[in-house]
Amino acid sequence: MTQFRHSLDSADIDALIANHQPGYSLEQAFYIAPEIFEEEFTHLFSRQWQFADHISRIPKQGDYFLFAIAGEEIIVVRGEGDTVYAHFNVCRHRGSRVCLAAEGHVKRMTCPYHAWSYRLDGSLAHARELPESVDKSKLSLQPCQVRVFEGLIFINLTAEGKGRVPDFASLVEPLRPWVEQADLRHTKIAHVESYRSQVNWKVALENYFECYHCLASHPEWCKIQLHALRDAVGTESAIETFEKKNEQWEVRARELGHMAGEMAGNFDFPDPESCYDAQIPYAERMMVNDNSGDLYSSLTPNGADMPSKLLGSYKADDEGQTDWGLTPSCFLYTTCTYSTVLRITPLGPLDTEQKVMWLVHEDAKEGIDYDIESMRWLVSATLTQDRQIVEDTQAGVSSRAYVPGPYGELESQVPQLQSIYLRALAYGRALRNDLKN
Ligand code: FES
Ligand SMILES: [Fe+2]
Repeated sequence: MTQFRHSLDSADIDALIANHQPGYSLEQAFYIAPEIFEEEFTHLFSRQWQFADHISRIPKQGDYFLFAIAGEEIIVVRGEGDTVYAHFNVCRHRGSRVCLAAEGHVKRMTCPYHAWSYRLDGSLAHARELPESVDKSKLSLQPCQVRVFEGLIFINLTAEGKGRVPDFASLVEPLRPWVEQADLRHTKIAHVESYRSQVNWKVALENYFECYHCLASHPEWCKIQLHALRDAVGTESAIETFEKKNEQWEVRARELGHMAGEMAGNFDFPDPESCYDAQIPYAERMMVNDNSGDLYSSLTPNGADMPSKLLGSYKADDEGQTDWGLTPSCFLYTTCTYSTVLRITPLGPLDTEQKVMWLVHEDAKEGIDYDIESMRWLVSATLTQDRQIVEDTQAGVSSRAYVPGPYGELESQVPQLQSIYLRALAYGRALRNDLKN
């Protein structure tokens, strides 16, 4: 693994932020340096709502899974009814991991070291031979905040009342009309694929937010997804072809009572303070392609159909899809019969997990209502190609020969995201310095 060649002090970081050239990729240190990653933890990862998983992973009280992010491990556990708790997996006795298995079912969470046990809400239930004077109520597992939106579990590492975090409700509320028809709360995970790459999370995220690379790297995606004409080809006539067909599709979709059009993600933040709390919800509902079902069947290696059981309140498959999500970790393509959900999670300065899950109707039966091979093929192939791209990019970005390069017109969201990121870091650092003085 490439190590950053110098250590950065605070003045170096200020200078790196101040000297960024707009419209160019970031300086090397942003993609490598552990000191920058630490700043990101303080100002971004620990304050932002991070997508953890789908609610169907923990259907019953006592079901849990572990969620790893930036060197931390969180126990996400189902409590009574719809309650979901999230706790740092760090024992309040002498710090051991409490839950060791990646997922499971517990009545209480019992630390393997000296057997302290915790209730699902994180409070300490039992600690053998502890002096009377010790106040057990002060020894709960360290809590995270949890919100569940349309079956998607988001956690925030900052405990309630312990620091400023973005307001979750106002982030996701605009998304609701775009996604509630699919009712992802009543879906199940049909298939999961996960891979870990020795890359910085921003290399992965920046790749997700542009389709400039799609023409060269994703031939299958470009064949099936008509919007590639707009987002990957990008010539005037290609955009026009897409828009014409899509407008006709919009009429059909609206006739069915389905959403169509765009809730433009707002990438335009007026000041550094709003950047500090920025997480961007976005949604666009558009056509996949003409006869997308037949197109898929003809192109997938086993020629099988796409999932058939309609999600939520859809009455018919209009061959549309909603491209939606909430930065920086949750990205979906939701059709009338299934949804992919991509999660990008920073694990270390050069360690990022990309996990994709396929959701189908909770009553759908494998082999009858859906075929995993067919369903996974396109996104799986595309993400495998992306894995190679981001690893090759990280290798080059880590080179002594790397210098920031200019962005093209088809990747305009990337410099916008970077501008928000840099202003958020600058604001957070200034805020902390103010508090110190
Ligand atoms: S470290 Fe957990 S019980 Fe001792
Ligand atoms: Fe890609």
